[in-house]
Amino acid sequence: MKNFISANDTGDPNQLALHAAEIKKNPHANRKLGCNKVLGMIFFNSSLRTRMSTTRAAYNLGMKVMTLNVSADLWQLEMEDGTVMDQGNAEHVRDAIPVMASYCDVLAVRSFPTLVDREEDYKEKLINSFVQLASCPIVNLESATLHPLQSLADLLTIREHQSNEKSKVVLTWAPHIKPLPQSVANSFAQWMIASDVNLTITQPEGMELAPQFSDGALIETNQEKALQNADFVYVKSWSSYTDYGKIHKAPNWMMTNTKLDLTNNAKLMHCLPVRRNVVIADDAMDSDQSVIQELAANRLWAAQVVLTEILKGL
Ligand code: CP
Repeated sequence: MKNFISANDTGDPNQLALHAAEIKKNPHANRKLGCNKVLGMIFFNSSLRTRMSTTRAAYNLGMKVMTLNVSADLWQLEMEDGTVMDQGNAEHVRDAIPVMASYCDVLAVRSFPTLVDREEDYKEKLINSFVQLASCPIVNLESATLHPLQSLADLLTIREHQSNEKSKVVLTWAPHIKPLPQSVANSFAQWMIASDVNLTITQPEGMELAPQFSDGALIETNQEKALQNADFVYVKSWSSYTDYGKIHKAPNWMMTNTKLDLTNNAKLMHCLPVRRNVVIADDAMDSDQSVIQELAANRLWAAQVVLTEILKGL
């Protein structure tokens, strides 16, 4: 594997999830693979799970890790080509990225969209700049439109709990007080469709996801109808793709135990962080059906299999 940016870099997402499951059984089997190799992690935004799971994965493979928080540690970066840099940004990504790559064997990057200009966000300028300008492999720790490490952990968790090939997976929109990226939901849809999972997406009218990621899923605007016979329910808030970056107020879309009762005793999933009693009610969060903590723990194996595949190619 050269870079890990989306489901398209995996060859077969199901095979990668199977490999992650093998690594989970024997996490230290490749503890020398990353010996003398350095992972650089660049965070343009906050993170708990992605940061800790990827760091631990690198340690399990014998790598050293350097982490930079852009807002605290770096000169302010300019991304536009041809800009006269007489304002706040002190360093251009054209100069900074090759320097970072010269100190690292793998670079991993976390950034969010502006949620102001859809066309610009969906161009994925930042992660693409890293791919183009770095001389080393790039791992997407969440970009403007996708979160592939999250989706790989989602797929691993579903495969671990799946009792039959025809399981029904429902991705349901949930309310939120802030506009959130579409990246987790886009990525979940992309990975489920690429893995041949039976996917239904339910959201209020106007909250449809980008067609390039959701085409192939069944779309149902009636949440209760969508939840019927579901084996897995993945809850996520996202801001509007069509009325870009705007929030939708529909508190009755919050996930509850009463709604889970409509399902086939479905496993409840969410990527975290979650605002309790806004996105998911306490009774559902703390129910036996929740595999949310298990899913967060699986982020480690998703990161470790991706680093393993990349290190094998170095
Ligand atoms: N799910 C997830 O990516 O969590 P963090 O933002 O804490 O990394």
